[in-house]
Amino acid sequence: MNRSDFGEDFCWGVSTAAYQIEGGITADGKGPSIWDVFTQKKNKIFGGHNGNIACDYYNKFTEDIYLIYQLKIPHYRFSIAWSRIFPEGVGRINYKGIDFYNKVINLCLELDIEPWITLYHWDLPEELQKKGGWTNRDVIQWFSNYVSCCVQHFGDRVSNWIVLNEPMVFTGAGYFLGVHAPGKKGLNNFLSAVHHAALCQSAGGNIIKSLQTSSNVGTSFSHSHVEPYRQEDEKDQKAAVRVDALLNRLFLEPVLGMGYPIDDLPILKRMEKHIKGNDMQDLHFKMDFTGLQVYTRELIQHDFWMPFVQARLIKASDRFVHHTIMNWEVHPNSIYEAIKKFNQYEGINKIIITENGAAFDDFFYGESIIDDLRKDYIKSHLKKLLKAKEEGFKVNGYFIWTLTDNFEWAEGYKPKFGLIHVDFNTQKRTIKDSGKWYRDFLSSAGL
Ligand code: BGC
Repeated sequence: MNRSDFGEDFCWGVSTAAYQIEGGITADGKGPSIWDVFTQKKNKIFGGHNGNIACDYYNKFTEDIYLIYQLKIPHYRFSIAWSRIFPEGVGRINYKGIDFYNKVINLCLELDIEPWITLYHWDLPEELQKKGGWTNRDVIQWFSNYVSCCVQHFGDRVSNWIVLNEPMVFTGAGYFLGVHAPGKKGLNNFLSAVHHAALCQSAGGNIIKSLQTSSNVGTSFSHSHVEPYRQEDEKDQKAAVRVDALLNRLFLEPVLGMGYPIDDLPILKRMEKHIKGNDMQDLHFKMDFTGLQVYTRELIQHDFWMPFVQARLIKASDRFVHHTIMNWEVHPNSIYEAIKKFNQYEGINKIIITENGAAFDDFFYGESIIDDLRKDYIKSHLKKLLKAKEEGFKVNGYFIWTLTDNFEWAEGYKPKFGLIHVDFNTQKRTIKDSGKWYRDFLSSAGL
C-alpha cells in the first residue's frame, strides 16, 4: 500500500478540536463555554481533569503547526471556539479571538498546509446554555450569526468548512445521557436539541454557500457499523436496525432531504412537537462532501427494559475482542462498511473520513515512543478504505484523529490518541512511531 494507490487528489490530513487542545480558557477575552463549566462539576470527568491548559496550543500553536509540516501532512482540520469570537455567544465580537485564528490560518498557508475549519466541535458558549443552549430554537439564529462572522473573517483564506462535528454525539451525550457538557438528560431535551442541531446543520451550510460560492462545505457524522449480537436472532436484528437509525441515520437523512428515520425508530414521532412551518424542507442542504468519522463497530442485543430503543450495546471487553483504551472494538472492516453504506445514498457525492484513530498506551524506549498498536490500527483501516476505493466506492480523504495527545472529554487525559506525545507537566512534544510512519507513508515510502 502506497500513498499513490489512493490517487493524486486524495486529501490526507489530521484533525483536532479547540477545547481538547487550546487551553487559554480566559485568555484575551474568551468567554466561558459549556465545557469550562461542566469540567468544574464533581465526578463528571475522569480524575477531575479539565481543558484549562490542555496542550497549551493557544500559546504553542506555532510549534504544533510546524510539527504538522514536519510530518508532511498536507491538510489540517481544527475547530473554532465559538466563545473566543463571541464571549457571550452573540453580540459583541472579540477581535483578539479573530486574531488568534488568523494567525493559525496564516501559518498553515505559509507552510502550504490546507486549513479545514470545523465551526462547532461541542463547546457552546455558556451564556447561550443559560438560555437553554441547543434546546432553545433561538440557537438557529445564534449559530447563523456566528457562522456568518467566521466566513466573513476567515473566508478570504479558508474554503473548507465542516458545519457540525458529530451532532449525534453532542446531543446524545450532552442532552440525553448527561455525560458530556452541558450534562442535561431526558428525551425531551434530546429531541429538541436534535431538531435544532439538524436545522443548524443546513442553515450553517446555506450561509457559507451564500457568502462564499467557491466554498467546500460539509458536516461530520459519527458512524459505528452496527450488527445484531446474535446474527440469526430476529429480535436482535430489529434492535440493530433501531440503533443504526439512532446512531447513524438521525442527522444524515434529514440533511439529504429524507426526513428523520421515524419508520425504523418510532420514538422519533415525539419530535413532532418541535417541528414548525417549513422545517422539514429547511433541514435539507446539498453538501459538497460528507464527513464520516469511524472508530469501531457495535453489536446490539434486544433488551425489553431499555427505554426508547429496547436495545443495548454489548461492550467489546465483554466480548473478549481486541479493543482500545476506550473499550472500542478494533474492527477495520467497519470503515469499509460505512463507506459502502454512505455510497448507497443518492445525495452523497463525496466522502471524506474526517476522523479515524485509536487510543492505546505508548511505550518509551530511549528517545523513541513505540505505539505499534496505533500504527497497526491506522494501517489496517487504510487497507479497508483502499479496498472500498478499488471497488469503486467514493471516498476522497482521510484525516487521522489526532495530532497530539489531548483532553478526551469525559475520559480526561487518560486515553491517548495522538501521533505526537505530550508530556503534560512540561508540554514537551515527542513524535511517536505512528507519527513517523504517517510521515514516511505520506512521503510515499509505502508500507
Ligand atoms: C470526536 C473527538 C474525540 C474522538 C475520540 C470523536 O467522537 O469528534 O472529539 O476525541 O471521537 O473519542
